[in-house]
Amino acid sequence: MKGIILAAGKGTRLYPITRPVCKPLLPVYDKPMIYYPLNLLMTAGIRDILVIVPPDDQEPFVNLLGDGSKYGVSIAYIEQKVQRGIADAFLIGADFIGGDSVCLALGDNIFYGPAFRQKLRIAMKNKEGATIFGYYVADPRPFGVVEFDQNGKAISIEEKPAHPKSNYIVPGLYFYDNQVVEIARQVQPSDRGELEITSVNNAYLDRGMLNVVPLGGEFSWFDAGNADSLYEAAGAIRAAQRSGVMLGCLEETAFRNGWIGREQLLALAKDMEKTRYGHYLQAVLGDLE
Ligand code: G1P
Repeated sequence: MKGIILAAGKGTRLYPITRPVCKPLLPVYDKPMIYYPLNLLMTAGIRDILVIVPPDDQEPFVNLLGDGSKYGVSIAYIEQKVQRGIADAFLIGADFIGGDSVCLALGDNIFYGPAFRQKLRIAMKNKEGATIFGYYVADPRPFGVVEFDQNGKAISIEEKPAHPKSNYIVPGLYFYDNQVVEIARQVQPSDRGELEITSVNNAYLDRGMLNVVPLGGEFSWFDAGNADSLYEAAGAIRAAQRSGVMLGCLEETAFRNGWIGREQLLALAKDMEKTRYGHYLQAVLGDLE
């Protein structure tokens, strides 16, 4: 399975913060936002990753993540010249996807929760069709909203409905089989002029091939796309990390997956030895002694 991170948003909802630095590189507490979706893909075991970046803004991403080899993965970059919506990721990424299945993670979505790895592995076991998630929020109107029947089966998905049929939104993590490329090619722009991911999900729903996995209250999800949600996400990450865990920790995930060795982890830890992040990496090494 291939992985795509859509990190091409200019972040106009975060102006003026995002005038000099694009949204996916902003800090969410102690690390750049893009670490969280990248860590999610790595946690799922995905090593072949395409990062879709804003036009003329590839360099800072490369400076940060390089070709991925320091984390035992392969990262390629491609620009989204015109912002045409989330489903455009499958058109831009068609060559990269080739004949494979693909997981798309939005660059400004942050997830964490217990046993996330197992949830991801369940989603990946489903070889045919699509697997997306449902997450309860108080106000679902700004999101894709999924409606379930009495048996918990998804029966409709609407993008930003004025009158939502449920409180379950579809967060920015999507698993698709190879049909997604052909489906995305047929999507027509919505009223807001975007190729909506909700149209892709509805195409799978119409084909009877959409699986929606509910994420319970033990999971946390943030769309860090505006100043309040960015601040809230940073506070939540800080609070969660007080218990001694480190969320979005690429180096730890790479090490625990067996993709990098002790030496490489030690070098990465040394590079950050003045930070709690670096100390945490040293502790990961210490744990195994
Ligand atoms: C997008 C999707 C929406 C999804 C949301 C998750 O919204 O269109 O279906 O629920 O991401 O963050 P947008 O960021 O385009 O408002």
